[in-house]
Amino acid sequence: MNVSEAILTRRSVRSYKDKDIPEEKLHKVIESARMAPSARNKQDWKFVIVQDEEKKDELHEAANGQKFVKEAPTVIVGVATKPEDEMKCGVGTGVVDVTIAMDHITLKATEEGLGTCWIGAFDQEEVKDILNVPEGCRVIALMPIGYPEEELGVMYKERKNPEDITCRDTYY
Ligand SMILES: Cc1cc2nc3c(=O)[nH]c(=O)nc-3n(C[C@H](O)[C@H](O)[C@H](O)COP(=O)(O)O)c2cc1C
Repeated sequence: MNVSEAILTRRSVRSYKDKDIPEEKLHKVIESARMAPSARNKQDWKFVIVQDEEKKDELHEAANGQKFVKEAPTVIVGVATKPEDEMKCGVGTGVVDVTIAMDHITLKATEEGLGTCWIGAFDQEEVKDILNVPEGCRVIALMPIGYPEEELGVMYKERKNPEDITCRDTYY
């Protein structure tokens, strides 16, 4: 699968098979995050791989009760370890870096036949408590990952038109 195919095939998966992810597949997925770029190559991130049933159950409660969060065999939790750092442009590096790495995860997972879903609807403090994340860190996203109940395939994506999201030489 090439990058374009992965981009077109990836979709939010909210229903997973009750089947564990082989360790070598999980390793490849995590490697894709490890190889992601980061501002000044600081790599101020941590990816908590959650497979414990009790913890997944707690995570799903902290994520608005979204059931598939506990049904997925694994949940990867992306954490910025220096969330206060900013680039010269005033944008926080933590959110940007962890988001890039986790998007690598979504695409690599697709290549491996695995489904993912971004989860932003969660309680920051509850998730920190559940996973023992230090106070100074910030949880950026939860990402259930596993074999999709329905096979992945290229399908229609509801998206804005190119001319609505781009402009030339100046903002309009
Ligand atoms: C930052 C972010 C947070 C999201 N949070 C949730 C969430 O909490 N629950 C959920 O079901 N989907 C969540 N989504 C998935 C979006 O709804 C989904 O990506 C969008 O509708 C486009 O559909 P697609 O991913 O299938 O292409 C999130 C996506 C992003 C990028």
